[in-house]
Amino acid sequence: MLLHVREVLTPEEVRQARSILADAPWGDGRITAGSQSAQAKRNEQLPEDCDATRAVQQLLLRGLERHQTFFSAALPKQVSPPLFNRYGGESNRFGNHVDSAVRYLRGGAGRVRTDVSCTLFLSDPDEYDGGELMVEDTFGEHRVKLPAGDLVLYPGTSVHRVEPVTRGWRVASYFWIQSMVRSDEQRRLLFDMDNHLRRLRAAARLGEGDPSVIGLTSTYHNLLRMWLDV
Ligand code: NI
Repeated sequence: MLLHVREVLTPEEVRQARSILADAPWGDGRITAGSQSAQAKRNEQLPEDCDATRAVQQLLLRGLERHQTFFSAALPKQVSPPLFNRYGGESNRFGNHVDSAVRYLRGGAGRVRTDVSCTLFLSDPDEYDGGELMVEDTFGEHRVKLPAGDLVLYPGTSVHRVEPVTRGWRVASYFWIQSMVRSDEQRRLLFDMDNHLRRLRAAARLGEGDPSVIGLTSTYHNLLRMWLDV
């Protein structure tokens, strides 16, 4: 499932993140690329352990924690610490590649299976030309360019790329999620069901006490229990 998650960060948080990142120690992104992606990768990124990275990580993780749609879609077991990159000038693209299946955390802090890939946009679309995230799936290719503060999540199995940025700079955060539900198909079903249930509960004549709402809520949780790995 490819999903646009709106307003993970407020405009004020985007402004804060942008001002921290403006003075941060950006470096060549190829340093951390695997051999397959190093050839395709032309961007700049922040060191994983600098003050700017840590400060904006806090903002972002808070945004994720309070976001109901994000939780319902990703069912996160573990979120890899968000990282930051930017595209512009000579460092303006990242060709087709697939992300590594496992993300090793710094200092032996564990591993994250990359079930879900996420990009959170920190630049608005009118600040740069090009720079679309292109994600391939069985329905074809999707072109993603979102407002600052919004996020796209898509299966870690997808081939994807970032189109060349021909004007301005595209600043973003990227990270991965190991989900409590490993299968993308199962997550999709649960997400759909949760959405419909939420709508039913909100409808005036079907309160929390409605037997069908209770029954379907119980089916949702029982499916989750069957598929869950906590
Ligand atoms: Ni990637």
